[in-house]
Amino acid sequence: MKPLLAPSILSADFARLGKEAKEAQSAGADLLHVDVMDGRFVPNITIGIPVVESLKKEVEIPLDVHLMIVEPEKYIRDFIKAGANYISFHFEAAVHHHRIVETIKSEGAKAGVAVNPSTPINFLEEILPFLDFVLVMSVNPGFGGQKFIETSLRKIEKLKKMAEKLNQELLIEVDGGIKLDNVEKVLSSGARIIVAGSAVFKGNIKENVKAFKEKLKNFS
Ligand code: DX5
Ligand code: ZN
Repeated sequence: MKPLLAPSILSADFARLGKEAKEAQSAGADLLHVDVMDGRFVPNITIGIPVVESLKKEVEIPLDVHLMIVEPEKYIRDFIKAGANYISFHFEAAVHHHRIVETIKSEGAKAGVAVNPSTPINFLEEILPFLDFVLVMSVNPGFGGQKFIETSLRKIEKLKKMAEKLNQELLIEVDGGIKLDNVEKVLSSGARIIVAGSAVFKGNIKENVKAFKEKLKNFS
């Protein structure tokens, strides 16, 4: 499938969030990646449900909400009601993964599990058939602008093989440290949703999105 670009608003100017989100959309962004952090699962606090609700009124592209919070099951319904179209929660932050995935799907959103760099991808073996997508973290979650962890590439390839074995149409999303100069190897490994925060919102948003889209075009 054609790869999708999901700019992460974490690196946007929050005082001009609607405007910058629209700018990314009109330049060709396919999804808008929204990083929700609670200061417990990760050492940072960002935004919550009201911001998703407001963003929903500003853009038409789907909202891809990445929950970096403990007890995600408590908030999932509210995020979907606020307008989340894709929701991922962290494998490490949950106990009843299957129940949460079923809740997300029954509320009409696409369900994903996110995995930290040190979490073995094999841990997803049993939940995989129920997922629409997996978010592979290629940095430790919590902050934008970190360096891409190279071993993530092997992990993406491994996940792709696992999904192929199951004959499954799984979308692989990769998040953290993706720039114009490494996006191609991330795509070659099997990723089909590319998250980019600082590489899109720091500098000229329009030019950055267009440059990414140009690279994504060569993959199908
Ligand atoms: C990090 C977030 C990312 C972050 C990526 O915890 O999940 O989505 O915004 O930022 P960059 O692309 O700058 O690494
Ligand atoms: Zn993210």
